[in-house]
Amino acid sequence: MLSELQLELSSQIQRFCADKIEPFMEEDDKNEHFRMDLFKEIGALGLAGVTLPEEYGGAALSYQDLCIVLSELAKSSVSYAVTVSVSTMTQSILNEFGNEEQKKKFLPALTSGEEIGAFALSESHSGSDAAALKTTAKKVEGGYLLNGTKMWITSGGIAKTYIVMARTGVEGHKGISAFIVRDGIEGFSFGKKETKMGWKVSPTRELVFENCFVPEENLLKEEGFGFKIALSALDKGRITIGSIAVGLAQRALDEAVKYSLERKQFKQPIFEFQGLQFMMADMATDIECSRLLVEEAARNYDEGRKNQKIACMAKLKSTDTAMKVTTDAVQILGGVGYTSEYPTERFMRDAKVLQIVEGTNQIQKVVIGRCLKNEYS
Ligand code: CAA
Repeated sequence: MLSELQLELSSQIQRFCADKIEPFMEEDDKNEHFRMDLFKEIGALGLAGVTLPEEYGGAALSYQDLCIVLSELAKSSVSYAVTVSVSTMTQSILNEFGNEEQKKKFLPALTSGEEIGAFALSESHSGSDAAALKTTAKKVEGGYLLNGTKMWITSGGIAKTYIVMARTGVEGHKGISAFIVRDGIEGFSFGKKETKMGWKVSPTRELVFENCFVPEENLLKEEGFGFKIALSALDKGRITIGSIAVGLAQRALDEAVKYSLERKQFKQPIFEFQGLQFMMADMATDIECSRLLVEEAARNYDEGRKNQKIACMAKLKSTDTAMKVTTDAVQILGGVGYTSEYPTERFMRDAKVLQIVEGTNQIQKVVIGRCLKNEYS
């Protein structure tokens, strides 16, 4: 059951989405247009740094609350929801692993929504095998020289603060360190912007580092700690991606039920056909299972319990559900569902990459499998 605060948050976001996001969504999706002014308004509502401490400008709410926020945003726009999710993940890294100076310097602009944060781990040859990354950070006087290219970076080009994982030492995960890198510094540029199936409003871009000097004070924690920083951030990111999947699936179901109650064929609303009712019953059941798993994963995190297995389960179940439910919603709407007259085709396109980002669903199963092995050995 939602708390009073969560109910208030939900209705506030529903009003915001109806007024500010829905009117532009179809057009912006076509034009791949991200609105920074709109993101700043999300920030002004206190939603850009939901879980961050108040002393750095955050709202000091829980991950359960953040999941409600992201689910509601995702009902109208997965792109804006994911921008908030990844920016919040960046902030959580700074808050957890940054020193006081780093937190004071970088967090307020992110928590307020004035700026966006991004997470740069993947490279062309190291997606699932993240520890194989090749971008180097060579120690020089006063800092590090970064060289290499990061790929598929969500919010690449619109973000100002990037957490970049680069190699300072030996091969494998022990040689990886995490750096805070700001847009605009010499030697840091943006490569190709990806043309994608979905998430059209959220830019995905390459980051290119060519002898890019990053000062020593921008190293997070210590050399060699970068992989652990990345994986522990993904434990949280996987929960929030799950909540986005739940919101998206719920909206697709809403559209399918509404349409099938109105659309008549063979002299009755198509909802009355048991074949369709069974489909919608399955959709609703899968969404509820996903919601409960995401909630439980967020509660585990909020209450300080080890949550890696449940976070992966939540991401796996909810994103597979979003893919299935959005596909079935298109099926129920039929011909119009496949056209841009209705948003269901966008929902289906936006669902697919949820099964891929922040660890493919096969990687989630790898982690769940490893957890099971530990539990039973
Ligand atoms: N938190 C902290 N540390 C962790 C951890 C966690 N959750 N999981 C593992 N570690 C530690 C381990 O303890 C180990 O350290 P020690 O050797 O000191 O014990 C170290 O990290 C390496 O662990 P593994 O041996 O398990 O590492 P691995 O190389 O076998 O990889 C993996 C494990 C689960 C496959 C991991 O590589 C992975 O999750 N891959 C997927 C990458 C991914 O999710 N990419 C997403 C890109 S970001 C994105 O999509 C965001 C976006 O833009 C939307």
